[in-house]
Amino acid sequence: MNAVDIIRAKRGGGELSDEQIDWVVDGYTRGVVADEQMAALAMAIALRGMTGREVARWTLAMIASGERLDLSTVDRPTVDKHSTGGVGDKITLALTPLVAACGAAVPQLSGRGLGHTGGTLDKLESVPGFRTELSNQEFLGQLRGVGAAICAAGAGLAPADRKLYALRDVTGTVDSIPLIASSIMSKKIAEGTGALVLDVKVGSGAFMTSVQPARELATTMVELGAAHGVRTVAVLTGMQSPLGRAVGNAVEVAEAVEVLAGGGPPDVVELTLALAREMLALAGLPGVDPAAALRDGRAMDAWRALVRAQGGDPDAPLPQAPETEVIRSTSDGYLSDVDAYQIGVAAWLLGAGRARKEDPVSAGAGVLLHRLPGNPVRAGDPLLELRADKPDRIPAARTAAERALTLGAQPPAPRPLVLDRVGGSGE
Ligand code: URA
Repeated sequence: MNAVDIIRAKRGGGELSDEQIDWVVDGYTRGVVADEQMAALAMAIALRGMTGREVARWTLAMIASGERLDLSTVDRPTVDKHSTGGVGDKITLALTPLVAACGAAVPQLSGRGLGHTGGTLDKLESVPGFRTELSNQEFLGQLRGVGAAICAAGAGLAPADRKLYALRDVTGTVDSIPLIASSIMSKKIAEGTGALVLDVKVGSGAFMTSVQPARELATTMVELGAAHGVRTVAVLTGMQSPLGRAVGNAVEVAEAVEVLAGGGPPDVVELTLALAREMLALAGLPGVDPAAALRDGRAMDAWRALVRAQGGDPDAPLPQAPETEVIRSTSDGYLSDVDAYQIGVAAWLLGAGRARKEDPVSAGAGVLLHRLPGNPVRAGDPLLELRADKPDRIPAARTAAERALTLGAQPPAPRPLVLDRVGGSGE
């Protein structure tokens, strides 16, 4: 077996054998297959695609590259959620304690932001003291006690994906359906969850900008879950404009806490409840009403317990960036659109995201929307606010944020948040 033959086979549109896939994934994990060889293969896969059998085997090989967690000592049903990544997507922060408060256990292994999309771990680290690195023992202990943990995947879990994801990020091979599906599902299957709800984002702020490829990605992941005994449902949701009003780190935590307190922007509440219902149904708790747990404070109690268990102080003030600038409307009319991608870029330029994976992020930087798509506006009204630690971050972010805004004479047609569903009874 050698890497060059495998690259050439895929480059020519051929189908890789199980033996070739096992060999190349294992070889890459151990350093026998070089980065440049895997980069070439990833590009060939991105251009040529993979058959269902190839994706299934690739996923299996990535799971086999590391350990598989055993959650059988957790006495509640386990169910996790994964989003393919968006702008202002703070859903995990409120959803995880909410579902735990409703009786399931949520083993949430999350990632960091890269490029224009935010990462749950970066957001949580803006809570003073919060630790995102837990040992397997701590992770299991917290699932048994609090019923939820949100932390980084340990180094032993799908190490092939850890290495490959970093390589894809710098070689233009992230947005490939077989590579995304196998990356997400190898981690989720290795984490040991019994059930999984996937939030597949569609729109300018997502990897998938239209419904058709998003549905294909969703179907691929649902099939991979089913093949490994993980009950999996995917929900396709809009990411044309950011979720809620806040995009950044601490600002998103503050918005998630508003939701846990029974308030928050309507789209964030709607999506949190829709995903909670899917998760509870998959966990075998279909009659439990998550809206009641938001109303009566049980979800907030679970959040506070989760933050404390991971070393954080739920009462500590969140960091705030000192430099602010407000962008105002130049005319009367309606805010027709706020483009998610441009707002993600603005937040990233302000310091909320990183250009390379080793860069630090600013806890306080980000964008706050003062008006939402569809709102009427008058000339001079504040539309959004930029926040940064340093003034030199503002001008470039301002250009991106201004590009995000479209004003019109008529209100825009309402856009549904939940676009489709794949798997389970709705298949
Ligand atoms: N999230 C992942 O974990 N992997 C991908 O490839 C894309 C999004």
